[in-house]
Amino acid sequence: MATRTTLSSSIETAIVSATVATTFSFILNVLFPLLREEYSLLSGFKDELEKLESIFTRIESVLHDAMTRQLKDRALQDWLVKLTDVACHAEDVLDKFNFDVTRRNAASSQRCLREVRDFFSGNNQLKFRFVMAHKIKELRGKMDSFSEEVSKFNLGQGGSERLIRDQNERMTHSFVESSDVVGRDKEKKEVVAMLLNNGATSTNLSVIAIHGVGGIGKTTLVQLVYNDTGNVGQLTYNDRASVHAYFDLKMWICVSDDFDLSRILKCLIESATKKKCEVDDLDQLQIKTREVLHRKRFLLVLDDMWNEEPQKWEKLENLLRSGDRGSKVMVTTRSLKVSSIINSSQNLQLSPLG
Ligand SMILES: Nc1ncnc2c1ncn2[C@@H]1O[C@H](COP(=O)(O)OP(=O)(O)OP(=O)(O)O)[C@@H](O)[C@H]1O
Ligand SMILES: [Mg+2]
Repeated sequence: MATRTTLSSSIETAIVSATVATTFSFILNVLFPLLREEYSLLSGFKDELEKLESIFTRIESVLHDAMTRQLKDRALQDWLVKLTDVACHAEDVLDKFNFDVTRRNAASSQRCLREVRDFFSGNNQLKFRFVMAHKIKELRGKMDSFSEEVSKFNLGQGGSERLIRDQNERMTHSFVESSDVVGRDKEKKEVVAMLLNNGATSTNLSVIAIHGVGGIGKTTLVQLVYNDTGNVGQLTYNDRASVHAYFDLKMWICVSDDFDLSRILKCLIESATKKKCEVDDLDQLQIKTREVLHRKRFLLVLDDMWNEEPQKWEKLENLLRSGDRGSKVMVTTRSLKVSSIINSSQNLQLSPLG
């Protein structure tokens, strides 16, 4: 009974995390940019919308922290559930607002004079402005109180902003308690199959990208795959076909914002040798990297990659070609641009838990 309660609360937690992350991402990356284009036409709403956007941005900067800590903090869990409700409501309101603005522009660009005249008629305009102004103000009030509670929960301490993210806070590792993870059997099976794909062993290196919005569960899925020893849901692989048995060497690097080649190579060497690497010189690090990868069929996880500069990636990729056939690099990222510069042979776009 206790196990069932824990499991259902894990499922709930995962669904809340995925929903809130997806909704925030849609509001900040799709709806606000669309509305921002129209700000000049929305003189009456510009200030309110800008304030609302900055509250969303502030809360989004601490979402990951909240999602990570919610399992141990019931009050934080409730806060996230309520935040998800309000964010979904905000998505509806902003979507409707955007639709109205688009309709007005379309009517105006098609010069449907009658439609324009109707839409701009005193009554319609007044009604639209009145209803929307009220809804947006109400939204801002609700979001404001969530924003105030960010400090109450000490979320994102150290002033982590959306782009200036605290490296330590975001550091990930390869370990996961698989009993805490729910509902990813299908995706795990899919990714394990990509890693063990014989077709890909004809080249020295294949790159796999796991893409999705923040908090959707990319790192968690990759942790599951990294620790695969042969059991995927009901299916059992034989020993030779597990991730554990297939690779001679497995390495995990949390890349995050800092795509610095020396730091990455140092982490790679330390992860491979399980010893501290005292070398700092880039030339030496490159030589050592080739040495540790030589004749090894390796799996390298580059978690949370943000680098969008192809040249930086190519330098690392060249070094990674020193491994044996069938070696794989698995990259997790929120950015579609990252997925495209790494030239991945296979991709998985992660969806929210159903
Ligand atoms: N399938 C799952 N079952 C249970 N909890 C999960 C699951 N997937 C994710 N979570 C929880 O949701 C939170 C966010 O997951 P995770 O860190 O894997 O997301 P992410 O996509 O890597 O986010 P980011 O882009 O910020 O790195 C974590 O607390 C994690 O434990
Ligand atoms: Mg992650």
